[in-house]
Amino acid sequence: MIPIGIKLALNRYCQDNSGYCLKDKVVIVTGAGAGIGASTAYAFAKEGAKVVVADIIEDNVKKVTKRCEEELCAKSLGVHCDVSVDEQCKSLISDTVSKFGTIDVLVNNAGILTFGTLLNADIMEPYDKTLGINLRACVYLTMLATPYLVQTKGNVVNISSILGCTYSGNSKYMPYCISKAGLDHFMFGAALELSPCGVRVNNVCPGPVKTEIFSKAGVTGSWKEIGESFKLTDMSEPEEIADLIVYLASYKARSITGVRYYIDRGHLLMG
Ligand SMILES: NC(=O)c1ccc[n+]([C@@H]2O[C@H](COP(=O)([O-])OP(=O)(O)OC[C@H]3O[C@@H](n4cnc5c(N)ncnc54)[C@H](OP(=O)(O)O)[C@@H]3O)[C@@H](O)[C@H]2O)c1
Repeated sequence: MIPIGIKLALNRYCQDNSGYCLKDKVVIVTGAGAGIGASTAYAFAKEGAKVVVADIIEDNVKKVTKRCEEELCAKSLGVHCDVSVDEQCKSLISDTVSKFGTIDVLVNNAGILTFGTLLNADIMEPYDKTLGINLRACVYLTMLATPYLVQTKGNVVNISSILGCTYSGNSKYMPYCISKAGLDHFMFGAALELSPCGVRVNNVCPGPVKTEIFSKAGVTGSWKEIGESFKLTDMSEPEEIADLIVYLASYKARSITGVRYYIDRGHLLMG
């Protein structure tokens, strides 16, 4: 039997009693038009969250918001946003606050995969572009969301990668790897700075996941062939990554901050 005073205190934090406590929480997901981001927006909507679907491709924003609304009766907001453009990031935050009043969770997911090498002298363009989207935008959006996250005691989940701590033997991933290593370090600093305010910051670091990020980067082949190039017999599905993101953003993970979560079917273990 839980004493009534404690029950009330618990209820203040956990009003939907589902354990995740994401009902009516306002969740921004960037790059939510496809892949891991689309699965993540859907997974939050399933938990009753108010989802802000932000992506650079307007048609995909519409598709994902429509799916969340029609299949789950979710309250959602679609925002066309290129996260590498500061003005569009500002609008994403202000549109969210105008529509839903606050921000509880920011998922910095938008990302691209590029290649570049020193010997071919072709690294600078992909470096600038990749760092702008995969790292700078995460820092900027987190900064803009911070006043709201401090009010709600909310949290940030950044989508990093196992390539933040390994090259998988292929140096041409350099711009991408640098961006994800930087994102991991940003997470540590942000978690350290914001934990006294009750704001958590964590990174999810997937191994290879079945999304179009590979074909957009010019990597061709079946999933089996792409998996084998990473010495894997199978690759993760975007929904598996979404489940971990939802968990980390939820009340269940209330003690977790400043942590990298690898989800890679053992790829790192296999070296
Ligand atoms: N798939 C993997 O194996 C894997 C592994 C580890 C980490 N990750 C990380 O997971 C995250 C999601 O990747 P994914 O695999 O789901 O890729 P994806 O299927 O390509 O989805 C990424 C989404 O972000 C959008 N996007 C790209 N640039 C953007 C920008 N400047 N502003 C706003 N949205 C933008 C993409 O739009 P477009 O259609 O225009 O590209 C796309 O809708 C990325 O951060 C990626 O680095 C992926």
